[in-house]
Amino acid sequence: MVLVCVSDKEFGKALGDELEKNDRKNTIVYNSKDAEYEISKKQYRAVLLGMHASDHQGIDLLKYIKLNKPSLKVIIVLNSHQDLHDLDMTKEQLINLGAIEVILKDEALGFLLQYLDSLLDGNLIKNAEMKEEKVVANDLDFSSISIDDFYSENILMFDLYVRLSKNKYIKVFNRFEYFSVESIKHYARKGVDKLYLKEKDRLIYIQNINLQLKKVLKKNQALSRKSAHMIKGLVDSYAEEIYFNGLKEETLIEGKELCENIYLALRRESGIKVLLENFENMDVNSNTHIFLTAIFSSIISKNLSWTGKITEKYLIEGSLLHDLGMLKISDSARKVNIEENEKKQSFEMIEYKKHPSLSFEMLRPFSFISEQVKQIVYQHHEQVNGTGFPLGLSGIKIFPLAKIICFASDFSKCIIRRKSTPMQTLKSVIHDSNFISKYDPECIEAFIKGFN
Ligand SMILES: [Fe+2]
Ligand SMILES: [Fe+2]
Repeated sequence: MVLVCVSDKEFGKALGDELEKNDRKNTIVYNSKDAEYEISKKQYRAVLLGMHASDHQGIDLLKYIKLNKPSLKVIIVLNSHQDLHDLDMTKEQLINLGAIEVILKDEALGFLLQYLDSLLDGNLIKNAEMKEEKVVANDLDFSSISIDDFYSENILMFDLYVRLSKNKYIKVFNRFEYFSVESIKHYARKGVDKLYLKEKDRLIYIQNINLQLKKVLKKNQALSRKSAHMIKGLVDSYAEEIYFNGLKEETLIEGKELCENIYLALRRESGIKVLLENFENMDVNSNTHIFLTAIFSSIISKNLSWTGKITEKYLIEGSLLHDLGMLKISDSARKVNIEENEKKQSFEMIEYKKHPSLSFEMLRPFSFISEQVKQIVYQHHEQVNGTGFPLGLSGIKIFPLAKIICFASDFSKCIIRRKSTPMQTLKSVIHDSNFISKYDPECIEAFIKGFN
């Protein structure tokens, strides 16, 4: 995103329109106070700063950026070369103050588009100076990414680490630094096979991957086999639009996008990738089930007052991973219809009830999967009336996020089995006191809010 700060409103608006036409998001402000506010609130790639003799605020803004956001690139725009004379400044002085270039007004659009393109194409990559910084931190706060799969645009949006030993890391890149593939190769040559980022930055990373995927699709380039496979899995899951009929479009689109992002990010971890692939191939509905669970959980999360972005991410990860333990039980146990055989203690039923613990055990070795997600997985069949498994917990003893997945997963199974829309299914179960008593009323209420 580009911030344009100019006092000439006509020029600002025309430039903004042109940037928009070229798919470049931008914000236009007409004074340096508004610019400072924007810079402090949002992440901009570049600032186009108009400067002329009657507006000395421009210099102050330049100093403010150099002091507070030194990595932000500032391009100075002048009406004419006379402005430099009137400002009593040279081009070099402006560059010393933090500008990367000084251009004239009529060059602004061309220069800006070229500059932004070159940022993407890597033409401006300079070798990152690897100022390594040792950090002591908790392993649970980090997510790992295989160094071979690591993807980033030229400027990193998050700090990047290499793990030394338990709870010890080296910060190898700072947020907003130029990222160079060469530097990563340097670590790969040293035998580093994983890069780490803070758990809190994982969403940003996921969004980056999704943007990249979208760009590839938009340009209609031939997809690599890997990307094609990733997308195929998702599209298959969404093929049956009947499952989403009646749900509010906006929340649904947002939920789907987040689920796709998180699914793609999970698959970047080779161990999880294998498990997810095996799970997808297990039976025809398994992938649809986890995606529906994820999307329904995301809808519930959006309609609860106590959940936020991070909780939504835990819920989606938990949904996508909750039933992995099914891979470890027999075919006949997997096909148990819990609704119909609830009270029967058949051999298959006993085996079926082991799957949450098995899922939990399978995820235990992955340190980048958070404890919250592991608890969701372990408790996803606990029911508020105490009739669930494996522990038979009730009410407030159940991890709150597990209650959401419990409803979302069971509801997903209902609609797949019945091949009916969520609304039809909801209408038929809402009056079934036996069904309703198993779930947290707050979750059901939040799910209902997700309908048109
Ligand atoms: Fe399950
Ligand atoms: Fe499930």
